[in-house]
Amino acid sequence: MAFTLPELPYSYDALSPYMSKETLEFHHDKHHQAYVTNGNKLLEGTEFEGKPVEEVVKGAFGKNQGLFNNAGQHYNHIHFWQWMKPNGGGKPSGAVEKALVDSFGSLEAANAKFIEAGTTQFGSGWAWFAVKDGKVEVMKTANGESPLVQGAHPILGVDVWEHSYYIDYRNRRPDYLKAFVDNLVNWDHVDELYQAAVK
Ligand SMILES: [Fe+2]
Repeated sequence: MAFTLPELPYSYDALSPYMSKETLEFHHDKHHQAYVTNGNKLLEGTEFEGKPVEEVVKGAFGKNQGLFNNAGQHYNHIHFWQWMKPNGGGKPSGAVEKALVDSFGSLEAANAKFIEAGTTQFGSGWAWFAVKDGKVEVMKTANGESPLVQGAHPILGVDVWEHSYYIDYRNRRPDYLKAFVDNLVNWDHVDELYQAAVK
């Protein structure tokens, strides 16, 4: 099956003022759409045609850079939209809360490490909570890469490409990251992914 652009799970103005309608229109309709369009062009005639996006990402890594970049960003953005919700943020619930405290000592420490990873990712990329060997780790990756190609299961990721925050925050990436953690994260979805990863 070809890649297709998923609808946002909320309206374009639902995350305002932390992420504006204008940002979501550009980010979803232009940037994510471009990864879908270019990914489909690059999939044509390859062994990956018709495969699920996770398999394309893992299979193209280190072999087909152009396809990997676009498939990786398609995968990352499919989840990014679901990792946010109106009135998000606050405290996680469920099993993932205990896992974060076990790994980092406290929720505050976990969130601080996550924000630090996003702040210190030089240039475009992502910061993550990912499950590796049953534990939650903080990771950061460049461009379209994700923990998926490092033997880990991403459970939360934040896009730190400038297209994700420049309209609303200009160069203030740390302010964007703080708003993401405090007001946007959909912890229910993070908990679902955590539980699937440790099954
Ligand atoms: Fe993005």
